[in-house]
Amino acid sequence: ARVGILISGRGSNMAALIEASHASDCPYEVALVVSNVPDAAGLAYAAANGIPQFAASHKGMKRAEFDALVDGALRDAGVEYVALAGYMRLLSPAFVDRWAGRMVNIHPSLLPAYKGLDTHQRVLDAGETRHGATVHLVTAELDDGPILAQAEVPVLEGDDAEALARRVLIEEHKLYPQALAELIRR
Ligand code: GRF
Repeated sequence: ARVGILISGRGSNMAALIEASHASDCPYEVALVVSNVPDAAGLAYAAANGIPQFAASHKGMKRAEFDALVDGALRDAGVEYVALAGYMRLLSPAFVDRWAGRMVNIHPSLLPAYKGLDTHQRVLDAGETRHGATVHLVTAELDDGPILAQAEVPVLEGDDAEALARRVLIEEHKLYPQALAELIRR
């Protein structure tokens, strides 16, 4: 299956998805990387791996207008599944509808707990002992939608947000390719 990945920044989950796609038994290939931030760090990795990209700033555009542009780029690339990987934009209802059941997101918490931003600090502030990451189908609500897979990590004595984020991210990079492959195979 042809996958399009949407990023806004570092793109380490995008890199993990691309890396996993090179395995002979992987059911997907990455056909396009899209960024709403033209100088997102992840774009260099995509370019170095020969993956086509569509990068355009959303600034000054209406949400639905920008999303239609992204949708056009995905269609042109023959994309069948969309993976959000640190894409820091809410999506318009039309875009969500169009990709319903075929669009996934990774979120750094054990959903439904800790939707939204700053999950690691919030988990620490709440004194949680466990944390993790979730891959879910994207619906109109932020960080909502059916859960496909989760990975758990312990919160350790002396953790700060950075240390905890690092521990979670290691799991994200394993979880995301697995969950996407599973969705595509089913
Ligand atoms: C990850 O923690 C992901 O779960 C969240 O945003 C972060 C993106 O990191 N949605 P990266 O751009 O994939 O490195």
